[in-house]
Amino acid sequence: MVFNVGGRQNVRILLVGERSVGKTSIILSLVSEEFTEDVPAKAEEITIPPEVTPEKVATCIVDYSAVEQTIEVLTMEIQRAHVVCIVYAVDDEESFEKVSSYWLPLLRNVCSREARRPVVLVGNKTDLIDVSTNDPMFRIMEEFPEVESCVACSAKTLNNISEMFVYAQKAVLHPTSPLYTFDQQQ
Ligand code: GTP
Repeated sequence: MVFNVGGRQNVRILLVGERSVGKTSIILSLVSEEFTEDVPAKAEEITIPPEVTPEKVATCIVDYSAVEQTIEVLTMEIQRAHVVCIVYAVDDEESFEKVSSYWLPLLRNVCSREARRPVVLVGNKTDLIDVSTNDPMFRIMEEFPEVESCVACSAKTLNNISEMFVYAQKAVLHPTSPLYTFDQQQ
């Protein structure tokens, strides 16, 4: 499935999650291929041209910052997105707990069942601890079938950063479940 927006193939990826989990760092690490400690509260919206993406679709990456944005703006961004990456930090239990207690229910509230966005779960900061098991992620996938895939990554070491965006593209272009109908996406 390929979205054709204004005559152009396009995937819009939104990153959400608790504060300081590394959303902005992930985006900037992808773009600059290096980790910077000093990042802004929110990355500018970035469009990656189709020729440099594996799926050959223009890919727009959108950051979210609770400091700079209201819940109304977040709601609008969720509705504009084709896929939502919920980021947590693997060394921060609370940020993981909020995935199922806050973020996934919020996405369900914002979008009707037919218009539900696919989700990629992203466990960032794997450089800080040994991630020994993916069981907790799989439990979330069972409860929330809109979660298409899970990935553990590190913005600091760049481990799995480009893969994360590939998973997000694939969740839109090759979903495993028919989450929404084509004409409901803009
Ligand atoms: P908000 O703007 O508050 O929503 O935060 P954010 O989710 O955008 O996180 P941000 O990218 O600002 O990173 C928060 C802190 O975590 C910064 O000090 C980063 O340097 C650090 N950080 C981000 N990613 C990693 C990582 O993969 N490993 C380590 N060790 N630190 C990271």
